[in-house]
Amino acid sequence: MPGPIEQSTAFDAALQLHIQGQATEAETAYRDLLATAPDASRVHHLLGRLLHEQNRSSEAIESLRLSLEISPDDSQVINDLALVLQETGNLDESANCFQHLIDINPQDAQAWNNHGIVLKEMGHIERAISAFKKAAHLDAGHVDSRANLGNAYKSCEKLAEAETAYREALRINPASLHLYPRLAAVLRRRNRLDQASEIFAQWLSHDPDNPIAAHLHATCTPENVPARAAPAYVREVFDEFAATFDQHLQELDYQGPQLIGQALSACRLAESAPVDILDAGCGSGLCAHLLRPLANTLVGVDLSTKMLDRARELELYDDLIEGDLVEVLRSQPSAFDLIVVTDTFGYFGDLEPAFSAAQHALSPKGFLICTIELDQVHSDTAEGFRLMQSGRYCHTLNYVEASLATANLKANSITTGTLRREADGRVSCVVVTAQRAG
Ligand SMILES: C[S@@+](CC[C@H](N)C(=O)[O-])C[C@H]1O[C@@H](n2cnc3c(N)ncnc32)[C@H](O)[C@@H]1O
Repeated sequence: MPGPIEQSTAFDAALQLHIQGQATEAETAYRDLLATAPDASRVHHLLGRLLHEQNRSSEAIESLRLSLEISPDDSQVINDLALVLQETGNLDESANCFQHLIDINPQDAQAWNNHGIVLKEMGHIERAISAFKKAAHLDAGHVDSRANLGNAYKSCEKLAEAETAYREALRINPASLHLYPRLAAVLRRRNRLDQASEIFAQWLSHDPDNPIAAHLHATCTPENVPARAAPAYVREVFDEFAATFDQHLQELDYQGPQLIGQALSACRLAESAPVDILDAGCGSGLCAHLLRPLANTLVGVDLSTKMLDRARELELYDDLIEGDLVEVLRSQPSAFDLIVVTDTFGYFGDLEPAFSAAQHALSPKGFLICTIELDQVHSDTAEGFRLMQSGRYCHTLNYVEASLATANLKANSITTGTLRREADGRVSCVVVTAQRAG
């Protein structure tokens, strides 16, 4: 039953301010109400929500606790408190709140599901699985519990069970687009590539313009490999990756800048006057520290806005261009004494357009230095490149050499190296140093 405060016009007015997004005014109005009615649990609750919406988590927790002191079994408040506690990393307390909700109503599928999520975060996988199963059992249409069940099984390598759970979630709601790549990843891990391909195709049928779905579908269909990754795919992948990119690459023992550094020493560029440099596919700027001391001008180009934002923070580039490296190279004839392309040709199958554009953009004595991932399965193929399950391309050495020649570039040196680690071993690459032929 609503109390007298909740029936007052002052309460209505406060709620309206909150709904309309006038946070400061709403907070004042809630606090005024509490000054006259400190036991109005609903007002403490709404104030807690408002504070949470403003990321003032500890104040939100305090308000929600005050609300619960007055109405200890209010499920909505317990749920809100559990979610804020979870968000702020108070997992034990959050789990206790969800358990409390389950004690109040053991048929509450959402509470079981949320309890499972927190248990999984705490590392209690088996208990999390039981909670997700319970939620799924209680509610035949509960998609999230099945998706979470799939995630939990996947995290402990129970791939067959994960597949069943994801398939069940997608059967209930085929528009749960985020589940298609997860199911496909499990199928790939189970070496069921045809089925993974079907799943990507289903994903595409629900989301025909999705560049990730299209590119990953192509990784399963060798007869339809695109000549390069679509810019929209690259942009989406790296915008998503930008925040954690540097740390992730460090964990993978990334050697790109070191390999470029070794090739640069061989060119003796440090001994010549400062030069004009393009860092093509510059990403977050991991090569910038290496290049800046040699540079008259240092320009970066990349497709991903968020990677460029990271590069900008370094304050080492004279200019950062958002765009496709081939187009930028084509538009700047003889502009650069050094063009560096580090760990970026993995998004190109056909290298010839990029090599030709680089040849066009190099000054007469300029250098192209790039890393290219080698095909570790086939030393020679008809196409010369292969789109791997990772979504990156690798190339054969013969193909690299032939593409350089076609683009009228002569290789000064081609050395082999290790670019970084990855799940199933080390990524081998060649480091190419080339100049305009003739
Ligand atoms: C693996 S990261 C490497 C970044 C950087 N070169 C390094 O060594 O840390 C690949 C970068 O290439 C960019 N990229 C891929 N294809 C591109 C293209 N066609 N034009 C411009 N940037 C591209 C991506 O957005 C991403 O930032």
